[in-house]
Amino acid sequence: MQRSSNILFVTTNEDKFKEVSFVLSKIGIVVDWLKDEKEEIQSEDTSEIVSRAGDMMYRKYAVPLIVEDTGLFVRSLRGFPGCFASYAYKTIGIQGLLKLLEGKGREAYFVSSICYVQGSLKKVFTGRLEGRIAEREAGSGGFGFDPVFVPNGMSKTLAELTLEEKCAISHRAKAATLFGEWFKMGNIYEQ
Ligand code: IMP
Repeated sequence: MQRSSNILFVTTNEDKFKEVSFVLSKIGIVVDWLKDEKEEIQSEDTSEIVSRAGDMMYRKYAVPLIVEDTGLFVRSLRGFPGCFASYAYKTIGIQGLLKLLEGKGREAYFVSSICYVQGSLKKVFTGRLEGRIAEREAGSGGFGFDPVFVPNGMSKTLAELTLEEKCAISHRAKAATLFGEWFKMGNIYEQ
């Protein structure tokens, strides 16, 4: 099997594409964008969601590819919105989340899972970013809940960071780095 340093990323989210391609470009992997909605099962586990989405997307395109899924888990809300973060973002939005957190603990974390699929070879990589939900929005960078997520040890939200700064610490960058290192090591030959 020919080893290539290009990889297809199936996502409709341009910000995710930019972050993953930025991180992987540093390890010599070129990411091509396949703009399509990944099919998503309902689960509370990002690794299960990407694993199933990877299968479905591989069945559709029959080429090696990656898919990604993110959850935002707020401890005082017993993990809500978790893997339903996208639905929460579209419905109650950032302001709704801030309202829910009035008088409550603000500790939260992002989890990102990336699944690589090539035939019967499938591997999932996961990264996590611990932090807290700010009292109010700040910053205009990034996307989603970035304007209210403050990583541990920082006083700025993710939306106040540059792409490079976010990618030095983010959940998605950690998952992408784990994938990239594995991919470059040639483990792709495992079958
Ligand atoms: P999904 O992985 O596209 O299902 O993302 C779930 C939700 O979390 C979406 O509404 C995004 O807006 C949000 N989200 C995903 N990744 C990030 C991130 O890196 N920062 C902030 N919000 C994110």
